[in-house]
Amino acid sequence: MSSTNTIQTYYMNHIKACLFDLDGVIVDTAIYHFQAWRRLANELGFDFTEHQNEQLKGISRMESLDLILGWGGVTLNDEEKLAWATKKNDWYLELVMQMTPNEVLPGVPAFLTALRESGIKIALGSASKNSKLILEKIQMLDYFDAIIDGNNINKSKPDPQVFLLGAEATNCQPEECAVFEDAVAGVQAAKAGGMLAIGVGSADVLTEADVVIATFEEMSVERLLAL
Ligand code: BG6
Ligand code: MG
Repeated sequence: MSSTNTIQTYYMNHIKACLFDLDGVIVDTAIYHFQAWRRLANELGFDFTEHQNEQLKGISRMESLDLILGWGGVTLNDEEKLAWATKKNDWYLELVMQMTPNEVLPGVPAFLTALRESGIKIALGSASKNSKLILEKIQMLDYFDAIIDGNNINKSKPDPQVFLLGAEATNCQPEECAVFEDAVAGVQAAKAGGMLAIGVGSADVLTEADVVIATFEEMSVERLLAL
């Protein structure tokens, strides 16, 4: 075996699975979450900024609601909170139902196809309870070997649970997994799980990621395996 092949084999044995966040990584549903949460805030008589919205990325629906209510200084009981969270989800789903495969983020299908061809497993690691519906709408469900989402977890990012379950579902060790994340909490979850954290978005925001890409057009299997 040539030295080049030896190097390739070493790296091929290293990353065996890629775990993808959904919202803001595969598709830009982050904007729809923002719109629906803002509608909720506006109906309750206040507003919040896109900058504040960064803090909502990656965390669960009910934790997001608690943060937003805190920003508006609004106190609700558990029953009221559930009612508002349901309303927000209904508004969000109205937007999701209009989604098409055109909304898949640039470079994602090509990269996932290349991963498959290289024998690298693909799993979803999302906090969303709507992930399967969204993947169906954008016709991406078939790419995934495993789906771990808000229906399978009881600890939110930055806890690594969602990604550790993804590693388990793909029969890989955490150090054999690379995580793609657009959220600060998601990058922290990947690092807490002992995985390679690849930020998707701005390096100014995702400061704890091992590497940051602006879009998947900058990523390839070769680059991944060389990281
Ligand atoms: C995460 C999003 O992926 O899922 C969060 O980044 C969202 O913004 C969370 O709150 C839960 O999503 P859903 O669809 O179950 O309300
Ligand atoms: Mg996200």
